[in-house]
Amino acid sequence: MSVWKYATAGCVFALSIMVLRKMIRFYKRGIPICSTKEMRNKTVIVTGANCGIGKATALELAKKHARVIMACRNKEKANAAILDIRKMTGCGELIFKYLDLESLKSVEAFCQDIIEHEQKLHVLINNAAVMNHPYAQTEDGLEIHMSVNHFGNFLLTNRLLDLMKKSSPSRIIFVSSALHKYGKVNFEDFKGHQRKPYADSKLANVYFARELAERLQGTGVSVHTLHPGMVNTELSRHSVSPALNFIVNPIKYLLLSSAEEGSQGIVHLAVAGLGSDTGKYYNKKGQEEKWPEISSDKAMWKKMWEVSEQLTHLNKAI
Ligand SMILES: NC(=O)c1ccc[n+]([C@@H]2O[C@H](COP(=O)([O-])OP(=O)(O)OC[C@H]3O[C@@H](n4cnc5c(N)ncnc54)[C@H](OP(=O)(O)O)[C@@H]3O)[C@@H](O)[C@H]2O)c1
Repeated sequence: MSVWKYATAGCVFALSIMVLRKMIRFYKRGIPICSTKEMRNKTVIVTGANCGIGKATALELAKKHARVIMACRNKEKANAAILDIRKMTGCGELIFKYLDLESLKSVEAFCQDIIEHEQKLHVLINNAAVMNHPYAQTEDGLEIHMSVNHFGNFLLTNRLLDLMKKSSPSRIIFVSSALHKYGKVNFEDFKGHQRKPYADSKLANVYFARELAERLQGTGVSVHTLHPGMVNTELSRHSVSPALNFIVNPIKYLLLSSAEEGSQGIVHLAVAGLGSDTGKYYNKKGQEEKWPEISSDKAMWKKMWEVSEQLTHLNKAI
């Protein structure tokens, strides 16, 4: 086959993928959530805002004139994301702050900085996570998924609670995963290999979110948990060999939601009037869903809280 034939076949393939994607999007379309409400004078923290759903969320909130603190562990990536968002909107304010959820010391330093420099915090979006990371133990002696997806979140959220109460009405949004329903928390060991590290750590985080909602009743700080569906992001970076990206990427592009679509429900929860709702579970469109059975065991919520309190040294003065 001549070069031209290869080029033509390549173009036809790319065009077919794009047309198919449009058709799938049209078939799967739902009620778009497009709150016109603005976020002027509102401060929001988005963890893991340099790519994927976090970056798309930061963009949408900036469009609504929010002051967005991009809590990321990589300064270059965060600044590149800020530049990108700036190209798409001149609205809002975007500020990078260093946060590595793998390190309790980094979480403490981040919170100290926020408490010292921010007058208000209206929305905290716990978005950052890792999936299928090779087994590793953090400097705090915790398994990496447990550390990033749960213990880091636990310490961060608790340290910022006073500021959020002062800023009420305020909201905490947990970006969870429907896979939490396949999790099982091994309370005996947070150091070693977990059974299903991603699902187990997401379940641990859901137990925390539910207990937190109970404890914050009547404070003006509400808690919302959402699963964004299957979204085309970098989350699978540890699951798929880069050598296979040329096959996997078109499939992801074709079948999964875009990061922008994946951010819609989160933006809705950050912006919409939710009345006195708290402790609820939402789908990617921001519509309420029934909590999976596994996450409804109150004894587990309490146990998770107590263990997390100990392992993150929450009660130690900083
Ligand atoms: N994509 C999906 O299909 C899907 C489905 C269900 C739930 N979710 C949830 O959606 C959320 C966003 O994921 P995504 O799909 O947008 O994935 P992503 O593109 O991989 O983004 C994850 C973000 O988390 C950050 N992060 C990872 N480890 C961190 C650490 N130690 N400290 C601070 N930040 C850290 C990453 O920073 P670096 O770039 O520096 O690594 C990145 O900004 C996650 O909570 C995920 O569980 C996603």
